[in-house]
Amino acid sequence: MVIETEENRRDFLILATSAVGVAGTAGAAWPFIRSWSPSADVLAQATTEVNIGALAEGQMITIPWQGKPVFVLHRTPEQIEQAKDGDFEKLPDFAKDETRVQKKQYLVLLALCTHLGCVPQPIGTGDFGGFLCPCHGSHYDTSGRIRKGPAPANLAVPYYAFKDDQTLVIGKPV
Ligand code: FES
Repeated sequence: MVIETEENRRDFLILATSAVGVAGTAGAAWPFIRSWSPSADVLAQATTEVNIGALAEGQMITIPWQGKPVFVLHRTPEQIEQAKDGDFEKLPDFAKDETRVQKKQYLVLLALCTHLGCVPQPIGTGDFGGFLCPCHGSHYDTSGRIRKGPAPANLAVPYYAFKDDQTLVIGKPV
């Protein structure tokens, strides 16, 4: 999804809000979506640009990238603090929050549970303020780290870069 102009900000906001609303059903829908064969030109598209300028604090959108869902969350100060708290606990897949984000307010995650690949539910659904994978009850925190349940590893962080303050680019240019 590429949203490039200021004129599109309102549309993007509506889209982003809708994206949060439908994210809860994404877990059920994604296996069907994944079963579709993406065309060769889609697979060849290494990067996806996301306009984050209209992504308000606390909002999350799900972006399709390379046939997979990616969560982009504009974290609140509380969510950032919650993520720091986890740094001092014994985590199954220890990682400091600061190593998982480039800008502390933006969390970018490959939205595939590391247990068996379900799509976790949106931010705020898990026991630690983060993401719940309802398939078998894995709870990820506000840094996408596994805190409880059968998942063996944290949600992966895809390669991404900030093109500018308004634009996030997911994926690596080829
Ligand atoms: S696939 Fe997520 S907990 Fe099993």
